[in-house]
Amino acid sequence: MTITQSTYDGVLYNVETLKTMLDGKIDTLHFDEAWLPHATFHHFYRDMHAIGKDRPRAKESMIFSTQSTHKLLAGLSQASQVLVRESEKVKLDQDAFNEAYLMHTSTSPQYSIIASCDIAAAMMEAPGGQALVEESILEALDFRRAMKKVDAEWGQDWWFQVWGPDEFSDDGIGTREDWVLRSDDNWHGFGKLAPNFNMLDPIKATIVNPGLSVNGQFSETGIPASIVTKYLAENGVIIEKCGLYSFFIMFTIGITKGRWNTLLTALQQFKDDYDKNQPMWRIMPEFAQANPRYERMGLKELCQQIHDFYRTYDVARLTTEMYLSDMQPAMKPSDAFAKMAHREIERVPLNELEGRITSILLTPYPPGIPLLIPGERFNKTIVDYLKFARDFNEKFPGFETDVHGLVKREVDGRKDYFVDCVKQ
Ligand SMILES: Cc1ncc(COP(=O)(O)O)c(C=O)c1O
Repeated sequence: MTITQSTYDGVLYNVETLKTMLDGKIDTLHFDEAWLPHATFHHFYRDMHAIGKDRPRAKESMIFSTQSTHKLLAGLSQASQVLVRESEKVKLDQDAFNEAYLMHTSTSPQYSIIASCDIAAAMMEAPGGQALVEESILEALDFRRAMKKVDAEWGQDWWFQVWGPDEFSDDGIGTREDWVLRSDDNWHGFGKLAPNFNMLDPIKATIVNPGLSVNGQFSETGIPASIVTKYLAENGVIIEKCGLYSFFIMFTIGITKGRWNTLLTALQQFKDDYDKNQPMWRIMPEFAQANPRYERMGLKELCQQIHDFYRTYDVARLTTEMYLSDMQPAMKPSDAFAKMAHREIERVPLNELEGRITSILLTPYPPGIPLLIPGERFNKTIVDYLKFARDFNEKFPGFETDVHGLVKREVDGRKDYFVDCVKQ
């Protein structure tokens, strides 16, 4: 079993609950903690991560955690690490483990990467590590409080919301209980949840724009996130991840105190420019220069055009349904990949994709989650989504929806969108 421990958006699972349920039933419990290497250094996250000093061993199952030291600790890119916790009964076969490791790594190790893992570990040694994590939680909460304060000041008028509980401590890092997802909360939209099973990591902040409710209803007016993130980029703020009506920022260790003020100021400026429908050439000169068709348009007007397009295609429903749609595995992913390696594939135009077997990974961004893996068959819902992406990209150049695996090419004199599929 592999579980993404901390989804990209910061939702955590109680590992002790999972161990109680699965110990002995599954040989290895693998937690993909790419985004969670900080958790073991602070009691705020107790039991909500795979492996920790004071945590009990499982009776039978081995526990693995893979962590991207470079994402939330101080490693260089590619400095990922594998943690292993043996069970009471099963010891790690180090030789087999090393063989598997060597299969997937370079024969030319990069010592500066390895050294950065050591440095990252040394930085997190007690008591420094706890203080660093505490500071990042504190910064994140200060930002969340500032956003709430601005919201209260605007009263009925619109303001960006930060996804998370409505109530949390007024100062300090408060209590982690504030961040546990409960069945009767309506902010998260996950419905019924087991008690104390999920928690939101407050350092991961999803900022929600007006236009789309948690249950997928579009409002009359809206502010798509792709415009806000481009606006912020022109103001020196680079966003980690962008959704349809939300974007994501993170508070990692070593963040400069109060740095979030720059973002807050830029968001206030955005609101002002939006409310006044300022022309694009004035407020986003670089973007307007690169995309002259928007030059004379107002910010509000452009937001509304994209919002109306999303609404017409009911894209929130479409993006949910495509992930829930019936995806038929027609062949093993390894066989489909081998077909690609041996060039037994063909470029299939979008209109002919339904029913075909993909030889590549198809990943729309947002949300950046693979939709089809090699060997799976295209169904109508997924093809409809790709048609939306095509139409959107044609209508709003500069805001292209990126779908990894969908390529725009000229084949036999015809410009179209294609996906590499297994030859029939
Ligand atoms: C959930 C998840 N797992 C694994 C990875 C890959 O990690 P790495 O960069 O350490 O190879 C990522 C990268 O973004 C990720 O989001």
